[in-house]
Amino acid sequence: MPLFTDIETAHERRKIAGAYYTPDAVVRSLVSWAVRRETDRMLDPACGDGRFLTVHANSVGVEQDAQACQIVHQRSPGSLIHQGDFFSWADQTHERFECAAGNPPFIRYQRFTGEVRDAAQRLCERHGASFSSLSSSWAPFLVATASLLKPGGRMAFVVPAEIGHAPYAAPVLEYMTKKFDRVQVIAVREKLFPELSEDCWLLYADGFGGSTREIRFTPLEHFSFCARPPRGSIAISLDEWKQWNYRLRPFLITAEGRDLYTMAADSRRTRRLGDFARVGVGYVTGANDFFHLRPSFADRLGIPRSLLHPAVRNGKSLANGSVDQVCVKSWLAADEPVMLLRLSPESELPFPVRSYLNSSAGRAARETYKCRNRDPWYAVPDVTVPDGFLSYMSGDGPKLVGNSAGCVGTNSVHVVHLTDGTSMSRLMKLWAEPLTALSCEIEGHPLGGGMLKVEPREAARVMLSDTAIRNEEDRATVEKAILTMKRWRHYV
Ligand SMILES: C[S@@+](CC[C@H](N)C(=O)[O-])C[C@H]1O[C@@H](n2cnc3c(N)ncnc32)[C@H](O)[C@@H]1O
Repeated sequence: MPLFTDIETAHERRKIAGAYYTPDAVVRSLVSWAVRRETDRMLDPACGDGRFLTVHANSVGVEQDAQACQIVHQRSPGSLIHQGDFFSWADQTHERFECAAGNPPFIRYQRFTGEVRDAAQRLCERHGASFSSLSSSWAPFLVATASLLKPGGRMAFVVPAEIGHAPYAAPVLEYMTKKFDRVQVIAVREKLFPELSEDCWLLYADGFGGSTREIRFTPLEHFSFCARPPRGSIAISLDEWKQWNYRLRPFLITAEGRDLYTMAADSRRTRRLGDFARVGVGYVTGANDFFHLRPSFADRLGIPRSLLHPAVRNGKSLANGSVDQVCVKSWLAADEPVMLLRLSPESELPFPVRSYLNSSAGRAARETYKCRNRDPWYAVPDVTVPDGFLSYMSGDGPKLVGNSAGCVGTNSVHVVHLTDGTSMSRLMKLWAEPLTALSCEIEGHPLGGGMLKVEPREAARVMLSDTAIRNEEDRATVEKAILTMKRWRHYV
């Protein structure tokens, strides 16, 4: 079906290039603010089909996609278009601009690689901003664009909501505050791009060549055309931003909510999960279906039970609040594929195991990336029996669950090893406090589709306290803050 393939290819191509074009009200708002005079020369570093350029013809657009460039030529004949990679062009051009506006591609680090990324990093480093290899493309796009502004220049861009929490967003905002008189981020709760799971916010920066000690932050429920950024904003000093782990998302909740959280953080009785335990990712088999057997299948093959270990395969297995013998018995009775074939490099391989490893399923498994890259391919590394498990991707918030059944856990859950002698039951009691749920929202991050994700380093920062909430008023404040964060990640 060629039509289907074409559509699929077009979708894939858009995704790879980060080519999601901006709605009209956003385009007009950003350009109206950025352009002050007819004579202002505007840059759009990733101009797509040229919709920013059509609003202000005295513009220069850069775009790597030849088809899109053709559309721009027709739509905006007055503008100058450079076809090719923006970073290579930015490195060579002597032109400088009064303003810039646009929507840079959001290409994740896994795909933002090779010569383009190297050129981007070199350019940004020359301008004093360095990005880790985990940075998405929009971050260097903004820095490289700013470096092409004239003194006093300004820029207005669509940015992913990740600017409010991703570690790699911090160097962008740091750079902006060092180079502009005024930096404002507009958080928009209702989706600017309804077809994307990713939320988008807006970034305005004015007065290139200056500097500021604060970031202005404006949370908005809905965005409609506005010729200048909304006036109502919270001024976040750089010190405050740093105290909140270089995140803007905590400023979505009320000042009372933040005060209560800060007081809890400052209290000597409050601890972080990382004070009690080590949180890590579970083991990676490379071929989960091959390595996790149903009990009936293992019996049919004759694989000894001593080489099989019950495993927590995903967050759903934590739903009833404990991983105990009753739980494991129920999985086995339901013949669920939870028995990990646990072989070490030194294991003697009985005949039934050798047959299974050499079966067609085994031959397919050993070709997977992970299996190909370990020796021997069938020995799954880093399998441990943790004290507990933490679900890390959920709508309602992560669950911490004790492991009295001695199960192992795949990388679909986090594994928790106690480090300071505290019992798992005490930890679970602390985890049930409302402050913990708020802390997961603040230290974790939204993942689209209403989900909250908590990486191991974020989980280690989650606050635990049974004294921080002193009365009903505090409890109401925390619950309101949790609800706000859930609304912003579209869970409720
Ligand atoms: C999110 S779209 C934005 C297009 C347009 N500015 C808009 O908002 O409608 C990003 C564009 O960047 C282009 N692009 C991606 N990487 C690029 C690069 N290294 N140099 C130039 N353009 C690039 C893509 O082809 C895509 O058209």
